[in-house]
Amino acid sequence: MENHDVEQDILLRVEGLKTYFFQRNAVLKAVDGVSFTIREGEAVGLVGESGSGKTMTCLSLMRLVPRPGAQIVEGEVWFRGENLLELSEHQMREYRGHRMAIIMQDPQTSLNPVYTVGEQVAEPVRLHLKERGQQAMDRVLGSLRAVRIPRLELRLGQYPHQFSGGMRQRVVAAMGLTTEPELLIADEPTTSLDVTIQAQFLGLIRDLQRESGTSVIWVTHDLGIVAQMCDRVNVMYAGRIVESAGVRQIYKEPQHPYTRALLASVPVMGTKRDRLYQIEGQPPDLRNIPQGCPFWPRCPEAMDKCKEEYPPRTSLGDQDFVHCWLAEPGG
Ligand SMILES: Nc1ncnc2c1ncn2[C@@H]1O[C@H](COP(=O)(O)OP(=O)(O)OP(=O)(O)O)[C@@H](O)[C@H]1O
Ligand code: SF4
Ligand SMILES: [Mg+2]
Repeated sequence: MENHDVEQDILLRVEGLKTYFFQRNAVLKAVDGVSFTIREGEAVGLVGESGSGKTMTCLSLMRLVPRPGAQIVEGEVWFRGENLLELSEHQMREYRGHRMAIIMQDPQTSLNPVYTVGEQVAEPVRLHLKERGQQAMDRVLGSLRAVRIPRLELRLGQYPHQFSGGMRQRVVAAMGLTTEPELLIADEPTTSLDVTIQAQFLGLIRDLQRESGTSVIWVTHDLGIVAQMCDRVNVMYAGRIVESAGVRQIYKEPQHPYTRALLASVPVMGTKRDRLYQIEGQPPDLRNIPQGCPFWPRCPEAMDKCKEEYPPRTSLGDQDFVHCWLAEPGG
């Protein structure tokens, strides 16, 4: 596995990942057999309706699923030939916040109100890189400069509440980037920003990502962001990746009926963002996922066998694949 991945420039290989919530009377299958790969320097979008398991997938990669309640029950997460799910919690800390970092949606919850911005950006530098003094300060200044925080000397000593929403989100990004992680996970980091600030923030992260060669997972509801930020897209439905393809390919020739429905639901400019993904029917209850292909109750192309058996993975070359009986040779 290790040598194979190194040869292929694969940074992350996720195989059959399952994360369930064990509830009193039910098992909620938030992540139900997710598999995908990310190459070095690749930016991969993760899209799908609300509740499809995007955040739980990201938290599972970081081994940060809510406890008690959620449990990673199966799968492998290979990070440069090391299966993260087999590491001790102590070993995992070497990865988290250092080799892999996550930027969450709400900068409020990622920043501590009682520490200055400078102290917070310095924290991962101290903790993971073991840098102190001028060396640490240079790195902190470098990351804050990279996310274009103006009047740095003044800003360093200020507290999060003295920053605007857009500036706070930049600080969170600086914290994520300061240790130069190999993988950055951004879980809808722009939802709280207005459109202009969002565009600036996206451009900034894209530049930094290209310069540093960091691999990125972009979780978003916005297919426009995917087109701007990503090299490939993973489409998620009911806890599984149903299609994975290059950005150009997926916009030109989406293979999965759900991907086609998502693309058809992209709003015209100016409509409200929460109107995205108005696809006929309801997403399935993850405590009671329909047998067969979970999309069949909503799929305009469903056939009898769709209701019986989950369609196997059909490889479409390179990293691309789709799970749909229509794509099966002879299907
Ligand atoms: N703390 C929790 N307790 C119980 N169920 C949860 C919890 N967090 C998430 N879930 C469930 O797990 C499933 C997947 O949730 P997840 O947050 O990963 O979805 P998502 O794709 O990120 O959605 P969104 O686009 O709204 O952020 C959902 O059905 C959700 O209800
Ligand atoms: S497997 Fe069947 S139900 Fe599922 S997406 Fe394909 S055609 Fe539709
Ligand atoms: Mg989410």
